[in-house]
Amino acid sequence: MARQFFVGGNFKMSVVLCGVGREHAVNGSVETIKKIIGLINDAKLDPKTEVVIAPPALYLLLAREHLKPGLEIAAQNVFDKPNGAFTGEISVDQLKDSNITWTLLGHSERRVVLQEDDQFVASKTKAALDGGIGVIFCCGESLEQRESNKTIDVVTSQLRAVKEKVADWSKIVIAYEPIWAIGTGKVASTEQAQEVHAAIRSWLKKEVSEKVAEETRIIYGGSVSEKNCKDLSKQADIDGFLVGGASLKPAFIDIINSHL
Ligand code: PGA
Repeated sequence: MARQFFVGGNFKMSVVLCGVGREHAVNGSVETIKKIIGLINDAKLDPKTEVVIAPPALYLLLAREHLKPGLEIAAQNVFDKPNGAFTGEISVDQLKDSNITWTLLGHSERRVVLQEDDQFVASKTKAALDGGIGVIFCCGESLEQRESNKTIDVVTSQLRAVKEKVADWSKIVIAYEPIWAIGTGKVASTEQAQEVHAAIRSWLKKEVSEKVAEETRIIYGGSVSEKNCKDLSKQADIDGFLVGGASLKPAFIDIINSHL
């Protein structure tokens, strides 16, 4: 079974405004989120690509209201408890109630800045899947870990924590995002990315099942641009992208269409 190409846009907290000949970063706003969504709605998109965008939580409903049907919205995070006194958190049921069908989890900015560990991320993954929400599960190594040859160990232990809690992988998309490539302009080479994607797939085959290994989308994230996406998309084990900075610009359309 061919895996459907998948492109996610991670708006993070900020938005890049495209002016004439210059760009600058600002925090997302009602106006800028509508502008980006207008750009996506008006573009001709490869109908074979699954597209999911992840605006800041405050704008999830706005985004759902404006984004055209057929394209989906992801939260950037969700909590692992169903309800209760958890100030500042959002539950899986609240996402579903708002027609938000996906969530990112385990993004390195949350693992590092907010100190979310593998167990917590896995527990949130289980909660999302149990509630019927798809999960874009992010994993990846730091530069130091890569330089000491720990890349595969780091990524597989992040995945192992999920395996211990989750049986059904059909709604998981794995995003391999080397931390040193995120927001740095330093994209992993096609060989570096393919090598890790292939290692993740063989881990899935050995530790989960051949079917899950065959069917799970493994997407790449980290400085993906309209310039490097074509070559990356031709790699056997790269099934799409998770795009940060470039998802806020017209380049996102080229990335969605990179597999044409
Ligand atoms: P980037 O971010 O494309 O800006 O490097 C990717 C991500 O953090 O998901």
